[in-house]
Amino acid sequence: MPLKKEKPVPPKKIIKPVVEKVVEKKEKEKEKEEEEGGGKSSKTFELLRGFRDILPEEQGRWNLVRDTVRSIAESYSFDRIDLPILERSDLFQKTVGKATDIVEKEMYVFTDPSNRSVALRPEATASAARAYISHGMLDRPQPVKMWYVGPMFRHDRPQAGRYRQFYQAGFESFGVDEPIVDAQLIVLGAQIFRELGLDIKVEINSIGTPECRQAYLAELSSYFRPHRNKLSEDDKRRLQKNPLRILDSKEEATLELLQEAPQILDWLDDKSKEHFMKVLEFLEEVEIPYVLNPHLVRGLDYYTHTVFEFVLVQDEGDKSQSALGGGGRYDGLIQLLGGRPTPGCGFALGLERIVRALDAKGVNPPERSKPSVFFAQLGDAARRVGLKLFEEFRRAGVPVVEAFGKSALKGQLEAANKLGVQLTLILGQKEVLDGTIIIRDMESGAQEIMDVKKVVQIVKKKLHTDHPSDVPAVE
Ligand code: HAM
Repeated sequence: MPLKKEKPVPPKKIIKPVVEKVVEKKEKEKEKEEEEGGGKSSKTFELLRGFRDILPEEQGRWNLVRDTVRSIAESYSFDRIDLPILERSDLFQKTVGKATDIVEKEMYVFTDPSNRSVALRPEATASAARAYISHGMLDRPQPVKMWYVGPMFRHDRPQAGRYRQFYQAGFESFGVDEPIVDAQLIVLGAQIFRELGLDIKVEINSIGTPECRQAYLAELSSYFRPHRNKLSEDDKRRLQKNPLRILDSKEEATLELLQEAPQILDWLDDKSKEHFMKVLEFLEEVEIPYVLNPHLVRGLDYYTHTVFEFVLVQDEGDKSQSALGGGGRYDGLIQLLGGRPTPGCGFALGLERIVRALDAKGVNPPERSKPSVFFAQLGDAARRVGLKLFEEFRRAGVPVVEAFGKSALKGQLEAANKLGVQLTLILGQKEVLDGTIIIRDMESGAQEIMDVKKVVQIVKKKLHTDHPSDVPAVE
């Protein structure tokens, strides 16, 4: 199968109108103010830039994503690992790479009270590799397949879909160098998006081994050398320090030059080519469509061979961050960290971006199931019984809402109405003395008086007959 390479389309020249420039300048000034401690003088505390609260009303979408990730991880036999948020900073310098944007510009590094340089993890693959070595996982049956979810930190310029604290769910498979591992990881990722109903495309490339990359980089550097004066300062620096990174430059002039630049696929050695072809063949076998992107190199140094990204298929003109996840093979990583040579491959998903894509599609599941029963009380004696009754309902698996803080019946019934419950239980002083309770059907308004000792069973029966799916089968 020939490797079809897609030439990236150069962006249209954009001339910024004056108004836009002024807005941009104002935004930058505001940003600077905030970075320099804006909000210091105000009485309330502001969130740090690039950090956000995930509010209760967003948790339904988050739960959906987390539950989907977990169930797919389990069905592909990945074991969960939780890794620390703080690590020695040299772990990332060594693996992600000193000359990468992540380490050079974006890492939260500081000296801890023991005078050690530590970093808030910008990613978790390096930590997973460290854990693999330090827990002797090489002696376990290979591959060792682990998944994680948690916050990462990068001090990048915040924008839609890009935060300074963001959540990733990641999958790492250590110990097997077969191309089928790469392919199955891509299938796994694609399944997560399929289950979530998100339309993505898989972009894929191979960056071969460090050896064949060396020869390619020399060629790439000499291609760009005569054009140096057309490059931005950032790209000039990239060219000098980490020429591969120039391939994902967003600068117009560089993008134009990249059209004719040498492509890494032409520099792969036979083994790397064969590995890559097999990955593509496996993907075709399982009908996962992919796009070959010869400029995809990813922003971390530890990759070898296959690299890939899950890109959201979105409207033209939507400029927000569309890479919902990315990964690749990292056959040299374990050795780099002092372990025995061990291949590996993995990827991570950006959960904020996935949640955002679900939001854009109008997906908004409730955070928890809506309770069908409201408990209304009148007076302290009723509250005391109510407290116990609430526990009985909870143990029976029937969610009940209450408003113990409210005293007037009217207000409580209004609350019950607002919540749209099916039944309201009413307990006044008389009922407490009689050992009874009133059950009110909220739709018909009909009320019945019951023995309080039987109320849990009766409510369960009522809910079950009217809405069989409302009550969990807990006895
Ligand atoms: P990454 O491409 O740097 O790879 O990050 C993976 C995903 O995390 C991105 O595709 C994006 O969705 C999300 N992400 C990255 N930065 C931000 C940000 N500032 N705000 C919001 N979301 C963000 C890695 O981190 C590798 N460790 C992936 C990997 C695992 N490779 C092999 N195994």
